[in-house]
Amino acid sequence: MKYGHFDDLKREYVIDNYRTPLPWINYLGSDSFFTLLSNTAGGYSFYKDARLRRITRYRYNNLPLDQDGFHIYVKDNDIIWNPGWQPVQEELDEYQCRHGLGYSVINGKKNKLSVKQELYVPMNDNILLDRVTVTNEGNEDKTVDLFSFVEFCLWDAMDDSSNFQRNYSTGEVEVVGSAIYHKTEYRERRNHYAVFYANRPVDSFDTSRDSFMGVYGSPRQPQAVVNGSCGNSIAHGWQPVGAHHFHLELKPQETFSVIIGLGYVEVPVAEKFVAPGVINKKYAEDLMNRYSSDEQFDEGMNRLRRFWDELLSRFEVRTDNDVVNRMVNIWNAYQCMVTFNMSRSASYYESGIGRGMGFRDSCQDLLGFVHMIPERARERILDIAATQKEDGGAYHQYQPLTKKGNSDIGGGFNDDPLWLIACTDAYIRETGDWDILNEMVDFDNNPEVAAPLLEHLRRSFNYTLNNLGPNKLPLIGRADWNDCLNLNCFSEHPGESFQITGPSEGPVAESVFIAGMFVKYGRDYASILKHLGINDEAEKATEAVERMAETVLDKGWDGQWFLRAYDAFGQKIGSDECDEGKIFIEPQGMCIMAGIGVETGEAQKALDSVKERLDTKYGIVLLNPAYTTYRLNLGEISSYPPGYKENAGIFCHNNPWIIFAETIMGHGDRAFELYKKTCPAFLEDISEIHRTEPYAYCQMVAGKDAPTFGEGKNSWLTGTAAWTFTVLTEGMLGIKPDYDGLTVDPCIPHDVREYKINRMFRNTMYHITVKNPDGVEKGVKSIRVNGTEVPAGAIRANGASEIEVEVIMG
Ligand code: BGC
Repeated sequence: MKYGHFDDLKREYVIDNYRTPLPWINYLGSDSFFTLLSNTAGGYSFYKDARLRRITRYRYNNLPLDQDGFHIYVKDNDIIWNPGWQPVQEELDEYQCRHGLGYSVINGKKNKLSVKQELYVPMNDNILLDRVTVTNEGNEDKTVDLFSFVEFCLWDAMDDSSNFQRNYSTGEVEVVGSAIYHKTEYRERRNHYAVFYANRPVDSFDTSRDSFMGVYGSPRQPQAVVNGSCGNSIAHGWQPVGAHHFHLELKPQETFSVIIGLGYVEVPVAEKFVAPGVINKKYAEDLMNRYSSDEQFDEGMNRLRRFWDELLSRFEVRTDNDVVNRMVNIWNAYQCMVTFNMSRSASYYESGIGRGMGFRDSCQDLLGFVHMIPERARERILDIAATQKEDGGAYHQYQPLTKKGNSDIGGGFNDDPLWLIACTDAYIRETGDWDILNEMVDFDNNPEVAAPLLEHLRRSFNYTLNNLGPNKLPLIGRADWNDCLNLNCFSEHPGESFQITGPSEGPVAESVFIAGMFVKYGRDYASILKHLGINDEAEKATEAVERMAETVLDKGWDGQWFLRAYDAFGQKIGSDECDEGKIFIEPQGMCIMAGIGVETGEAQKALDSVKERLDTKYGIVLLNPAYTTYRLNLGEISSYPPGYKENAGIFCHNNPWIIFAETIMGHGDRAFELYKKTCPAFLEDISEIHRTEPYAYCQMVAGKDAPTFGEGKNSWLTGTAAWTFTVLTEGMLGIKPDYDGLTVDPCIPHDVREYKINRMFRNTMYHITVKNPDGVEKGVKSIRVNGTEVPAGAIRANGASEIEVEVIMG
């Protein structure tokens, strides 16, 4: 069943049934100010950091679902409703939500009254704009009361939801005309406030939640809306809110519109007050003045559209499959931007207070983003590297606001450092910017121990070599990619974190997955060294890599597939010898991507085993058979009921690794078959089963052992975005940046005869046509550049602004 449709021309997903299986959200904001917005106008805003600078409240796990947000209330005689249906849930005559790139438009109609909300965050300004347009579509005069409403968060979202003995007394506001200033804690150590304004005079307002909702009121029936007027309340402590009220008399066909803005403002400390206790509003006024007319609103929206036009034009594909086109050209790329911005911090499943930026997560997110805004990728790489520890290890997470490693979780996730090599290499291939390696970057955010970025890569590489176990495979530490495979944890007490309990440096437990990573990204590291002319070291690195590849085949091969790990007692994990968890997806994907066993037959065997034991109609499960009991020696992975999350759920993140592996083996048909299984746009027709947004990947789909097989969870913030983008564009469509140019080596279904790609690469637009006259799945017969045949290998543009490339497969 569908709840909407794709509008590819407008690059929108159009929802026409408000009862989506879950809130279907969009992300507004592309730099510092962000808003999560659901199809019924639920959500919240924050500045840079969803924990430390939360601007509005959101109650996760609430009932009814998704009640906090940016709702507009309409009182039309005695009927109260919202254009987005929530929170009142009064049935609408018509409804549509268009989620676009960085904006959403929600339009509800009832009793011949149309109310439209157009919401976006403009480029380079810290403000959420919401233009509300009310039209009397009937033939009679209408008297309508319109209300805006937001509930402020007292900045630190954690404190806000727990430290009530203090924060019920701290709330403060000021009101000037239609502008409501939320200034809690500004009197002491903060120099920022929020402003919630309207570009028209209000008839009344509220800043106290008790006044607007009623002490025992609810968002479904706010007291002020029932009364038809707010109480002009000034909040003193408790719950500061912002509400505007407009009393409208509308003739038939008459329209009223108002721009409502929610801004975040920082004031230089020396200028904080203009009079005792009175905040300096100059910066807010400047901001409001930039968005106080319809022309300004429209121009801001146009700038946003131009921004996305430019970004998406950097990689455009035309195949005869509309779903593939819309994923590559629009939604997958869009999600890559969102994951780049958010890492795993704020979604409808990530509360924004739990995690900041993940080290490995952010490195991987870059893989799908680097071609869009390489300068931002550069900055991110340097930020991430600055949290690396001197021994080459890494903090697992850092806070986006402070950019400091998070010592609560610390380090010891032994795959983390290698991801730094992965993203730096991808960045250099994309940009040719070798200078980045000379940038001085702190270790542990300490400038006294700064070193060039190349030294960071060196320590990443050596970290693995310095932490080998009894089989000469890398020690796993607290976990590798799979945060839930905790082989040194042994937690017996509820509530203990599986990630930070137990000794991280267990001297025995080893990861075959990290070994695969070391081979894959170690090769990249050696190529970098070679390119820099550091030949001795490059050779030594290559030797270490080849040694590891041999070790994987020797100690990490189970006969029909790659082993997953050795536990703290040296027992095999992911082996046919195990009673459950006999085979895992991760090492199959990573080892084959590293090229291990490709020539000698193990890779093919492993892929056959994946097909036989892990494949399902909704994708490849993480392991099989699922663990049915909790196992001390394995940790969190066995804590989940069978079929969910890391315990045999379909982790969309590592499905593309298998797809990559299939393309390495030349299997284009199989690669595409697998691609379709987890691709949300291919699942649109079964939204009642899949439940999450058909335009965004989710982290996990319930596996075959789960009672809810096929149900998606944790949409948006997942490495799936970057990996599926990369596997489709590089692995299948075959366009891969290399140090000296762009390479084209497709692996596609045999019945694809032709496709075209426009790819911006280092200031040259490559117009590429791939033809497949013989119906092969892989193999390039010839390449022509501007009509002239060129040798196989990287295609250089020699400074041209555009080139035509024709690739004939065969
Ligand atoms: C984490 C990743 C991790 C994955 C698998 C995600 O929630 O963000 O870092 O690799 O789960 O455990």
